[in-house]
Amino acid sequence: MALYATAASVLAGVESRRGSIKGLVYASSFQNVKQLYALVCETQRYSAVLDAVIASAGLLRAEKKLRPHLAKVLVYELLLGKGFRGGGGRWKPLLDRHQARLKAELARLKVQRRVSRNEDLLQVGSRPGTASQVPRFVRVNTLKTSLVDAVDYFKRQGFSYQGRASSLEDARALRGRCFLLDPLLPELLVFPAQTDLHDHPLYRAGHLILQDKASCLPAALLAPPPGAHVIDACAAPGNKTSHLAALLQNQGKIFAFDLDAGRLASMATLLARAGVSCCELAEEDFLAVSPSDQRYRRVQYILLDPSCSGSGMPARQLEEPGAGTPSKARLQALAGFQQRALRHALTFPSLQRLVYSTCSLCQEENEDVVRDALQQNPGTFRLAPVLPSWPHRGLGTFPGAEYCLRASPETTLTGGFFVAVLERVEVPSSVPQAEAAAPEPTPSAAPRRKRRRQAVAPGAQPRTQQKGKR
Ligand SMILES: C[S@@+](CC[C@H](N)C(=O)[O-])C[C@H]1O[C@@H](n2cnc3c(N)ncnc32)[C@H](O)[C@@H]1O
Repeated sequence: MALYATAASVLAGVESRRGSIKGLVYASSFQNVKQLYALVCETQRYSAVLDAVIASAGLLRAEKKLRPHLAKVLVYELLLGKGFRGGGGRWKPLLDRHQARLKAELARLKVQRRVSRNEDLLQVGSRPGTASQVPRFVRVNTLKTSLVDAVDYFKRQGFSYQGRASSLEDARALRGRCFLLDPLLPELLVFPAQTDLHDHPLYRAGHLILQDKASCLPAALLAPPPGAHVIDACAAPGNKTSHLAALLQNQGKIFAFDLDAGRLASMATLLARAGVSCCELAEEDFLAVSPSDQRYRRVQYILLDPSCSGSGMPARQLEEPGAGTPSKARLQALAGFQQRALRHALTFPSLQRLVYSTCSLCQEENEDVVRDALQQNPGTFRLAPVLPSWPHRGLGTFPGAEYCLRASPETTLTGGFFVAVLERVEVPSSVPQAEAAAPEPTPSAAPRRKRRRQAVAPGAQPRTQQKGKR
């Protein structure tokens, strides 16, 4: 019998108390007993964690033929173990289909339990703290639906809409099937932390994007108007690109670059599902994109969300092992790339506004990168004073650093994040003034609690894309 099937049957025996791991492993006819023993022991050690991740990712619902113990062994290998030994055989493609979701759910569990290492998840209950209260944020994709329709849909499903939150405390206090509108970002709904919407028909149809509030800040603060040309410099997997497209109402152009072909492929799927039609994807090194290329002559907005250590986000640690506590050398390498990318972005001739963001907590990747760029461009670019009421500001390492924004579970009920908005000081005479000044996000009119119109029938499939729906 193959390794995983054998491990699953031994695990099933152990968990149903039909014997000890050792006895069952030796009773099996598998040749590499040591390897089998280690796999079963480790899977059993993480059993509760794996159950939680498998349940919240809906793996067994989606793959009806997959037995629970085999699922546990396979998910252990994928997320916590050494990857698929011997290639994973026929199970690898199945697990590949669910990989992103499983990783996201493990990351979410870590955020909820406020831990950064897999090992720490083994402590009973981990450390319930403020991070366990990070709500489930849901961005309504206005390319496919409207805020009012989405709110109506949830209400008809038995959720109770509480209107626009007036403070973080409202979000912190959310329980059960209640939901709110975010106090700051338009079209962002807030649900209690444990709400799982991965199987929700509106999510599957691309009407909803499950995106942390902090990760919605970059596009919202860049705020390109419809018709603008925008570069998304490090774009995959594309949640921020789809947000930009929604702000543009699919009018204008997004030039999206990424080096990673695999991530670009997922991004193409994500964008298609989200109804994005104004984006050109390119597998290209952003540093090699020429600012003097005529294709980019109208680019006034750049979103730069480069690779980072991910020290603010357990999700990133999963993609890049060891990222939670970056070594000095790694930090230096990342900061070097981030600096080059930001300096390069600022050389696009028509650029008016740029958002630099990371999900890192390290000063080297954040304030230091911004300071370097400002020093390189004295009098040309400055930090825009955005969101004055945002409670968590940049580290005061240089004058004006307080204009940068930081985010964390404790202070903003979000993942750890950093955002800086740079704007050109002098507007070149060739650029129309009105287009150059982008507004800050303004909360749209909150839907009233009382239902105004029947948009999507209860239980019905959501509508397909509606053009000009905003
Ligand atoms: C933090 S992720 C971007 C996340 C994305 N903005 C989103 O919201 O979904 C950073 C991305 O930068 C890409 N990248 C790294 N170096 C790059 C380069 N030189 N040019 C373009 N993309 C690059 C990585 O492949 C990775 O997909």
